[in-house]
Formats: sequence, C-alpha cells, structure tokens
Amino acid sequence: MRRTFTITDGEFSTNVVGAAVVTDPMVPYAPVVIETIRVSPNYRNKGFGSKLLEILTIHAKNEFKNLIVPTATLDQDYPGAFVWLSDRGFIYDAQKNALIKRWDKD
Ligand SMILES: CC(C)(COP(=O)(O)OP(=O)(O)OC[C@H]1O[C@@H](n2cnc3c(N)ncnc32)[C@H](O)[C@@H]1OP(=O)(O)O)[C@@H](O)C(=O)NCCC(=O)NCCS
Repeated sequence: MRRTFTITDGEFSTNVVGAAVVTDPMVPYAPVVIETIRVSPNYRNKGFGSKLLEILTIHAKNEFKNLIVPTATLDQDYPGAFVWLSDRGFIYDAQKNALIKRWDKD
C-alpha cells in the first residue's frame, strides 16, 4: 500500500513544506520502500527533512520493518542525498543497490 507523509512549517500550519511517499510491503519481513522524500528548496537545511525521516522511521518501526531507498530513485540533481541518508543511519547494500536503515540499529 502506498502512503504519503507530509510536514508543515509549524504545528498548526497548513503550509506543506515537505513530503515523502512510501510503499508498505504486503509480505512479511520486506522493508518499507521510500519512493521519494523531498523538501521545498526554500525550506531546506532547517531540519524538516530530518523530521520527516524520523516520522518514516517511527512508521517502519511500528510495523517492525526496515526502511529502504533504492539507489536508482535518488534524485540525480541532488547528489548530496546519499551522504544525507548515510549520516542518518542508512547503510549502503551493494547487493540490493539500495540504502537500508534497520529499525533495531538506531
Ligand atoms: C534531501 C532533502 C530531503 C533534505 O531535506 P532538508 O530539510 O534540507 O534536510 P535537513 O535540514 O534535515 O538536513 C540538511 C542539513 O541541514 C542541517 N540542519 C538540520 N537541522 C537544522 C536546523 N534546525 N537548522 C539549520 N540547519 C539544520 C543539518 O545539519 C543537515 O546538514 P548535514 O546533511 O550536513 O548533516 C532535501 O535536500 C531535498 O528535498 N532534496 C531533493 C530531493 C532528494 O534528493 N531527496 C532524497 C532522495 S529521494
């Protein structure tokens, strides 16, 4: 099942500044796939992306699933994404050609 998570620029704001789309697996043990995670250019480097990632981590943990970002889905226009995810607990798996965050290894 596909889900969209959004983040606003304040607790009671309706101004959406970032969004992530994930696909929840229908089979046991399969990871939650992050299809995309994006923050509006004017709102980057303010912690919104990290907050959104925290929300996705909680979602995956609740389901006892890991999080996976297939390398092919990384935005080629933003080469910093690989390092950004690595700094937040994602580890590159060459076999799967993806970055994976394991919920039991925070
Ligand atoms: C990757 C992306 C989602 C990051 O979003 P972001 O909101 O800029 O991320 P953050 O603000 O949480 O982190 C960025 C930097 O800001 C810094 N930062 C975090 N909180 C901050 C705060 N409160 N104030 C100022 N700076 C802060 C962090 O130190 C971080 O630096 P680092 O990566 O060197 O550690 C965003 O750049 C983006 O949308 N990129 C294009 C799409 C993309 O590549 N998506 C990823 C793969 S699909």
